[in-house]
Amino acid sequence: MTPTGTLQVADPVLDVRGLSARYGHVEALKSADISAGKGELVAVLGPNGAGKSTLLRAIMGLIPNEGEVRFLGNSLPRRDPVGAATKGVVLVPEGRGIFGPMTVLENLELGAYKIGGDRQEMERRLTHVFELFPRVKERLKQVAGSMSGGEQQMVAVGRAMMADPKVLLLDEPSLGLAPRVTGEILETLGTLSASGLPVVLVEQKAPLALKLACRAYLLSLGRIVATINPREVKSHDELAQYYFA
Ligand SMILES: Nc1ncnc2c1ncn2[C@@H]1O[C@H](COP(=O)(O)OP(=O)(O)OP(=O)(O)O)[C@@H](O)[C@H]1O
Ligand SMILES: [Mg+2]
Repeated sequence: MTPTGTLQVADPVLDVRGLSARYGHVEALKSADISAGKGELVAVLGPNGAGKSTLLRAIMGLIPNEGEVRFLGNSLPRRDPVGAATKGVVLVPEGRGIFGPMTVLENLELGAYKIGGDRQEMERRLTHVFELFPRVKERLKQVAGSMSGGEQQMVAVGRAMMADPKVLLLDEPSLGLAPRVTGEILETLGTLSASGLPVVLVEQKAPLALKLACRAYLLSLGRIVATINPREVKSHDELAQYYFA
């Protein structure tokens, strides 16, 4: 296990410095530093209530927060989620956030609302999503709410990809899914990061995330208590001390 603050990438796409957030009197995130560079998948691990979702919401500017989020070398305004998304910081939220009554295709197209009526660009992006998730292509006319949990998660990631992200943030995409479909989705995230896209993956299932991640941050009670090199984790008991601290 490596102490907090090491294993930093030299020239990160996303560089979060001293980010804090509170809900009323509850300080849910305390001066977090994380970074993700080109081609990196970094994991954020930690037990229920550790502050994982809060970290992603604060990065996006969805909740009041303090600190700095640097993206491609510039500071992002701290309360402008639409601006952040427009620049390419795209979140797949906890619970997926897809529109159940709309079709799969409509959900995907919504992700690319920025491009307006550019059909050629729309088709290019759709083709990319179909390459990532062939199953989605077979279900374009289906009402999204009638898909299985795993398929809905594919649509949620697909919709995020339709926005042409420069960094992708995911909040527990495996939640409630069977191991097989979880494996499929995480493998696709690995492919995306290997193609250059920085990915920040919030995940409670540490063993799965550590297989993919080049670096993992451990959150406990709102604080990053360790930065981990997955190749140095010899047993998952090593992580347990943070989960039960
Ligand atoms: N809207 C809110 N109002 C008040 N407190 C909140 C709110 N959202 C989260 N919290 C509190 O902030 C802390 C961190 O919550 P957060 O949702 O970030 O945890 P998490 O690590 O994502 O947990 P989980 O694994 O269960 O999703 C918890 O103590 C939680 O109760
Ligand atoms: Mg959460």
